[in-house]
Amino acid sequence: MTDLLQLQGVTRSFGGIVALNQVSLCVPQGTVYGVIGPNGAGKTTLFNIITGFYYADSGIRIFNGEVLPSRWPPHKLTRLGIARTFQNIRLFGQMSVLDNVLVGRYIHAQSSVLASILRTRAFIADECAQREYALSMLRKVNLEHRAADLAMSLSYGDQRRLEIARALATEPRLLALDEPAAGMNAQESRALSDLLAQLRQDGLTLLLIEHDMSLVSGICDRIAVLDFGEVIVEGDPETVRHHPQVIAAYLGGSA
Ligand SMILES: Nc1ncnc2c1ncn2[C@@H]1O[C@H](COP(=O)(O)OP(=O)(O)OP(=O)(O)O)[C@@H](O)[C@H]1O
Ligand SMILES: [Mg+2]
Repeated sequence: MTDLLQLQGVTRSFGGIVALNQVSLCVPQGTVYGVIGPNGAGKTTLFNIITGFYYADSGIRIFNGEVLPSRWPPHKLTRLGIARTFQNIRLFGQMSVLDNVLVGRYIHAQSSVLASILRTRAFIADECAQREYALSMLRKVNLEHRAADLAMSLSYGDQRRLEIARALATEPRLLALDEPAAGMNAQESRALSDLLAQLRQDGLTLLLIEHDMSLVSGICDRIAVLDFGEVIVEGDPETVRHHPQVIAAYLGGSA
């Protein structure tokens, strides 16, 4: 199986804190890859580096066989097929649910600024196509019926699903989800798990940070465990769950 994403020796410090230390991992195409670890282990920093929100001090990222330029900004990586959601939801609360998803479509819009001012026929056709695509993403996450509502009126769980729809609207190959089940009740969490399984079936590669061990074990093909910025264990869910270092670092030695 080919790797869609590879990290080699990725290191990042903040002042005196080494948030990531020589992190190397391979994410095979079409799999769900979990990243777990205690608070402050470096999981979000890892996502920030993969998606261009932070630069690494050293190390390389290889996406689809190509080394990524170290200083490419997020929007360039989005165009390449890397999308994400955020640990702290980042939606435009005063905009409609549909408009939030349309934000994710802008990189695929065909029309020039002039065409949009003149509202040419091509512009209107493109606008309709983008709208249809955005609606189909809302359908995928089961939010189509809320399209006209303000994003801020959605429940916490639905806002997380809306973030996923917006990320999907960019047509990613790799989708990185930072704690997508945070704040969800058990039913929402099960629905999320079904959605992620569906996305994987659609051919998407998923990177998943999650504290809910049953969700992680149920859906991930492989899991990397971070502790103090280092990958301490990597493998399939069974191997990881029973690894003594994981039990000590992640479960506090109680399992
Ligand atoms: N922008 C920043 N400035 C300074 N320190 C940072 C910054 N981002 C992260 N850190 C530090 O890097 C370390 C790793 O943080 P990170 O947010 O990546 O952890 P995490 O594994 O996502 O934790 P959590 O489970 O709480 O979300 C922490 O010590 C954190 O304080
Ligand atoms: Mg985090």
